[in-house]
Amino acid sequence: MKIACIGGGPAGLYFAISMKLRDPRHEIELFERNPPGVTFGWGVVFSDLTVENITRNDPVSADIITREFAHWDDIDVHFRGETVTSGGHGFIGIGRKRLLEILQDRARELGVVLLFNAECDPADPKWRHYDLVIASDGANSRFRDARAQAFGVDVDVRANKFVWLGTSKVFDAFTFAFEETTHGWIWAHAYRFAPDCSTFIVECSEETWRSFGFDRMTQDESIAACERLFAKYLEGHGLQSNATHLVGSAAWLNFRRIKCERWTSGNVILLGDAAHTAHFSIGSGTKLALEDAIKLADVLNRPSLSLEAALDEYQAERNLEVLKLQNSARNSTEWFETLERYTHFEPLQFAYSLLTRSQRISHENLRLRDREWLETVERWFWKRATDGRSNKTAPPMFAPLKLREMQVENRIVVSPMDMYSAVDGTPNDFHFVHYGERALGGAGLIFTEMTCVSPEGRISPGCTGMWNADHVAAWKRIVDFVHANSKAKICLQLGHSGGKGSTGLGWEGSDLPLADGNWPVMAASDVRWLPVSQVPKPMTRADMDEVRDQFVAAVKMGIECGFDMIELHAAHGYLLSGFITPLQNRRTDEYGGSLENRLRYPLEVFVAMRAAWPGDRPMSVRISATDWAGEDGITPEDAVLIGEAFAREGADLIDVSAGQTWAEQQPVYGRMFQTPFSDRVRNEGKLATMAVGNIYEPDHANSILAAGRADLVALARPHLVDPFWTLRAAAALEYRDVHCPPQYLNGLSQLARNLKREAEANATALRV
Ligand SMILES: Cc1cc2nc3c(=O)[nH]c(=O)nc-3n(C[C@H](O)[C@H](O)[C@H](O)COP(=O)(O)OP(=O)(O)OC[C@H]3O[C@@H](n4cnc5c(N)ncnc54)[C@H](O)[C@@H]3O)c2cc1C
Ligand SMILES: Cc1cc2nc3c(=O)[nH]c(=O)nc-3n(C[C@H](O)[C@H](O)[C@H](O)COP(=O)(O)O)c2cc1C
Repeated sequence: MKIACIGGGPAGLYFAISMKLRDPRHEIELFERNPPGVTFGWGVVFSDLTVENITRNDPVSADIITREFAHWDDIDVHFRGETVTSGGHGFIGIGRKRLLEILQDRARELGVVLLFNAECDPADPKWRHYDLVIASDGANSRFRDARAQAFGVDVDVRANKFVWLGTSKVFDAFTFAFEETTHGWIWAHAYRFAPDCSTFIVECSEETWRSFGFDRMTQDESIAACERLFAKYLEGHGLQSNATHLVGSAAWLNFRRIKCERWTSGNVILLGDAAHTAHFSIGSGTKLALEDAIKLADVLNRPSLSLEAALDEYQAERNLEVLKLQNSARNSTEWFETLERYTHFEPLQFAYSLLTRSQRISHENLRLRDREWLETVERWFWKRATDGRSNKTAPPMFAPLKLREMQVENRIVVSPMDMYSAVDGTPNDFHFVHYGERALGGAGLIFTEMTCVSPEGRISPGCTGMWNADHVAAWKRIVDFVHANSKAKICLQLGHSGGKGSTGLGWEGSDLPLADGNWPVMAASDVRWLPVSQVPKPMTRADMDEVRDQFVAAVKMGIECGFDMIELHAAHGYLLSGFITPLQNRRTDEYGGSLENRLRYPLEVFVAMRAAWPGDRPMSVRISATDWAGEDGITPEDAVLIGEAFAREGADLIDVSAGQTWAEQQPVYGRMFQTPFSDRVRNEGKLATMAVGNIYEPDHANSILAAGRADLVALARPHLVDPFWTLRAAAALEYRDVHCPPQYLNGLSQLARNLKREAEANATALRV
């Protein structure tokens, strides 16, 4: 094949090498706009896996690269005058310039024609004469942008400013240095990539950058200002840029996240940064570029594949990898963009939050990397959880939490789940066993399902209620069992279904009206949920008084039953949530319009409930932190205001759920997908929160808690199939102080022994 590679970065060079290795008859010309030896940036970081891949692909260049690697293990986080050091991270890096030299030599040796000082114009007709034109021309690819529509380019310009500098100061650890200035926070990411040289990337928000006047400074002035700011880390060494002699490069940049729907158009194929970028804070751009190159060379040289099939396979496989990495990279990018959310943390927690920011590194990963350091974090967590009384080194999920006078034994919560199994609102033996069993299973706090304050406030005929003496008696039996047989606390979730009421049971077409026997529904406005749903009656002031009083009456019955806590359900599109979301609330009176107006009635209900509920017992509010509808609905920013408004009226905990507030929501699911909302409400609003949503492993819970993303962790569906989730986690994590019903102690210790034996056998198998 006759091939042109546009751009002599890692992608273009490594592709040319990989093609020649597979078939030396390929004619490859590589065009680079800069002279040899001139490039942006300083060092690049690799992973062990990338090294394995390049060693398999080309042992010759891999051998030279690996011999020149700089290795380091520790991460130092400098924050508020303290240095937090954790080890076992195992990084390898090399200078970008040196990497390119090695690849250039290898490419020449294999017969690739390298043409420097060669600016390529996509409009030039000569490209038609090549079988393939590889657009490996980097993040600002002209070849991609010339056919932006054909490639389906999506560019997201990120908020922060950064500059990629170098220094002769040799950092022994991967260093993050955070400095608070009168202009705001500014920080450096620094690491050694050669015996005498380190990368030094400076980053800050655009606001801080302008306030410093970086926008008006020359490059030299910028560098001098950074040298002054980070003088104590540089210890007399200077900073340098290599952007000055580059074509098409600037000093300070905003990171551009790029993805493309299609990677091929005509004879042009995207490779490396031209196709996708991953934020520099997770350091994987070069890895992706090299792995793209290997895959593309593989498929193009597989005789059984047509060109079209080869390119389809290339895009399908690589795009999946890219999307996974971009997902983690987005978390990491956002962490730095919202840094001020975490600057009230103590240095140890700040460092933990930084290390786990992309969600790729978890609590147990950190234990494997540096057990001693992780145990310091665990001790710190327990000390804080117990006002200094406990010196325990144990997983955060088992630490207690105090809300008003209620002490929760551990941080695992059975999330509210409607069982649709009541008759006339009365819980029965099913509920007795269901809640009783989950209390025996070790969770610190059990929530009831949404228990409705009136027959018309039910979602379905199977919902539990709290409006008559039968309900009080049935709930009291459950509460008494929980208190007598476990250490769990039990919280009554009270709600009213509003416009989403009068529907079938959960497994019989939830949200769909009943086949017969529907009751009239009311809501903030006459907005129906689905085209088949009833049109709700907009509530009058008299209706509002009546429903508020029903909530208060239910609270008083909750006291009779002996509940430890009450939650007001103001999420998921039910009555109160329907007031809060602008998608359902179309009122023009003082209960509609601004967020303040839309919150007025839900707050009125909450205030009345709080007045009826004992002052020493806590209350929470469940909210939907987003409508999954962009700016048209509730946004996570609104969620902070909503949480704060309830907290001002005496809410002790915000239970941060999301969505289900309009039928056409566009949720983005994934592991722990709603936790970022809890993080935001907790750390921007400085409120106690509970996270929920696809949290299913003890490791998830521990990571969320230790990183300060929530105070409690709720699991719903995992508890449906495993009431003993918490006891099982205690056995797996070898935590012995969990409360276990004495009748079951034998089972717990046997499970712990078996799990330990299995873990040891797995570890031995891995060593062998
Ligand atoms: C601050 C920062 C830190 C980073 N840190 C890391 C890290 O630690 N680890 C890591 O793996 N990655 C890192 N990266 C990302 C990494 O640099 C890129 O992902 C990687 O360089 C991609 O390789 P590429 O060959 O696709 O593109 P590039 O390296 O950008 O190469 C493209 C080449 O094409 C040339 N070119 C462009 N247009 C034309 C034209 N019209 N004609 C001729 N030539 C042209 C350019 O001069 C350039 O040499 C970092 C990036 C940044 C910005
Ligand atoms: C069967 C079922 C019933 C639910 N009923 C309620 C409910 O009554 N009240 C409520 O606030 N959330 C309810 N939810 C939502 C859960 O509390 C939780 O927020 C959601 O399932 C996400 O958590 P998970 O991924 O751990 O399941 C219910 C969820 C399920 C699966």
